[in-house]
Amino acid sequence: MLIAVRLEGRKALVTGGGSGIGAAISARLAAEGAEVWVGDINSDGAERVAGEIAGHALDLDVTDLDSARAAVAAIGSLDILVNNAGVEEFGFFTQTTPEQWQRVLAVNLVGVLNCTHAALPGMQEAGYGRIVSISSEAGRVGSKGSAVYSAAKGAVVAFTKAIARENGRYGVTANSIAPGPIETPLLMGAKELGEIGEKVIETMKAATQMGRLGQPDEVAAAVAFLASDDATYVTGETLGVSGGLGMV
Ligand SMILES: NC(=O)c1ccc[n+]([C@@H]2O[C@H](COP(=O)([O-])OP(=O)(O)OC[C@H]3O[C@@H](n4cnc5c(N)ncnc54)[C@H](O)[C@@H]3O)[C@@H](O)[C@H]2O)c1
Repeated sequence: MLIAVRLEGRKALVTGGGSGIGAAISARLAAEGAEVWVGDINSDGAERVAGEIAGHALDLDVTDLDSARAAVAAIGSLDILVNNAGVEEFGFFTQTTPEQWQRVLAVNLVGVLNCTHAALPGMQEAGYGRIVSISSEAGRVGSKGSAVYSAAKGAVVAFTKAIARENGRYGVTANSIAPGPIETPLLMGAKELGEIGEKVIETMKAATQMGRLGQPDEVAAAVAFLASDDATYVTGETLGVSGGLGMV
């Protein structure tokens, strides 16, 4: 496949870049010419991906504002922030605990706030920035067995719109992507629930118009578009990459 080179000279941070969709985003941004920092709480994953793409590995815990600030400071002038780190703990809401809610919200929502808060001042000063946050169709349609995750992802969509409104005047765009079921360790983790988990995955697959799971590369291509100057007039949007699952 011929890949455009649209990101030369840009510095990008991909949170949760050590696995799944984040690894594919890191590879795609690097292939398009960006210098990529792979930030992850999993240092081995970050090192592996950074090694494969001639990028940089960063120890990053998105739930910790100081860690996010240190990552942005280590990079210097950050042009592209991809808020991708995420976790899910599947289970029907009545069977979940407040400790689980806190863990899911801490990474999927507060993590986006922390990294965006750390990145924005530099982008505002530079008069340029691209923020792409990985939400989920779960945040738009609600996903059975993922109530708190759906709440966090819906919040990311609303947060992205507010950030887009506040930062257009600085030349900063903010958009989100709503993937459908993508074949990664996070989704396949549902299988740990046994038969119910298998059913959840099959139901999501059947809800797409394509009748299949998506691949991380398919999400990465959309991120590269939103991060590039092909999307200079696109902000506050949520782009579904879900085989039509979230179509209204
Ligand atoms: N796989 C899907 O079906 C799907 C669908 C919709 C949205 N998403 C979203 O896509 C994103 C990537 O998910 P994935 O499927 O590739 O999952 P994954 O589990 O393969 O990767 C997630 C990465 O995030 C990292 N991470 C977790 N907590 C972190 C923290 N506190 N600080 C820094 N890094 C941390 C993990 O170590 C891991 O490398 C997530 O935001 C997820 O919610 C995934």
